[in-house]
Amino acid sequence: MTLHTRPWLDSVAPYVPGRRAPSPDGSMASNESPVPTSQRVVEAIASAAASATRYPDPLADALRAELADQHRVHPDQILVGNGSDELIFLLAIAYLAHGGRAICADPAYQVDQISARIVNADVSGVPLRDWAHDLEAMAQLPATIAYVVNPHNPTGTVRSRADLQRFVRAARADLVVIDEAYIDFTDDPAARTALPLARAGQAVVLRTFSKIDGLAGLRVGYLVGDRDIVATLRKIRAPFSVGSVAQAAALAAARDHAHRARVRSHAIAHRADLTCLLRRAGYQVIPSQANFVCVITPDEAGLLDRLAAHGIVARPGSALGLPGSVRISVPSSRGLALLAAALG
Ligand SMILES: Cc1ncc(COP(=O)(O)O)c(C=O)c1O
Repeated sequence: MTLHTRPWLDSVAPYVPGRRAPSPDGSMASNESPVPTSQRVVEAIASAAASATRYPDPLADALRAELADQHRVHPDQILVGNGSDELIFLLAIAYLAHGGRAICADPAYQVDQISARIVNADVSGVPLRDWAHDLEAMAQLPATIAYVVNPHNPTGTVRSRADLQRFVRAARADLVVIDEAYIDFTDDPAARTALPLARAGQAVVLRTFSKIDGLAGLRVGYLVGDRDIVATLRKIRAPFSVGSVAQAAALAAARDHAHRARVRSHAIAHRADLTCLLRRAGYQVIPSQANFVCVITPDEAGLLDRLAAHGIVARPGSALGLPGSVRISVPSSRGLALLAAALG
């Protein structure tokens, strides 16, 4: 018997994660939280671990109820997933498989493109304008799904809520997906959540517990949108994709507003310091609203080597579709000191 892979999979390149650094302080490749896990989350994890013999709640009802309350939507408008990545894959399976068309910014968040290619969809990238989504150009293109990552990864730029509202009205796409993985780190008053669009069923919003809540290792994200979309995705998801410990941790994190505020202040203050350090060292840095900054440099490898000599691992822009750049996550205070030494 000869087993043939589906032919379109031959051209799919797998996702390449950021490399691990020798120490957590030097870890600046994956936009993880440099702030220690909230004590309330640690306690919730310990207590949930005692019930590890049981299957988890398939739909994470307690977490959904909390999120529905916070976002003022019905729980049926929320789907919890194994990281927002799982939800991106479900959207691709449900709406893009066999002949769908995806449009993204170029560069896009890699998983948006990979998930679309895996289901044999056509993917178009629209070049950034001033390092931000060119929503006006994206709106012209017919598509099944248009992806907007706001703040954008890997540049950290944002488009305003008014721009997104205009885009949703003008877009020729059947569905607009707005990924807000980094929305909690914004301090530009124009950068506001698109949740009102999701509430009204005009867009789908993706959120994650991996960034502001620092739970990247536990894999929890969620989608807010139209009930029919949620119902469709529920049909195709794996029934127990989010474990009980992860659900308990996410619920505790969602309620720990003080911890979120601490992580946000840390990110905003250290982002300014990081930008300043890099600019003083002569690098061009794109102003960022996320928990990372993107450095434009003709010598990507040179900057990565300079950082690596001080135990810092950052992400090469060439791995993110933006050659000639390096993405550096906002670090801990000790990480910032490592950076100062590397650049000094
Ligand atoms: C824009 C964007 N969306 C989604 C994710 C993935 O989130 P999760 O860890 O919830 O799968 C990331 C992770 O880096 C991201 O940058």
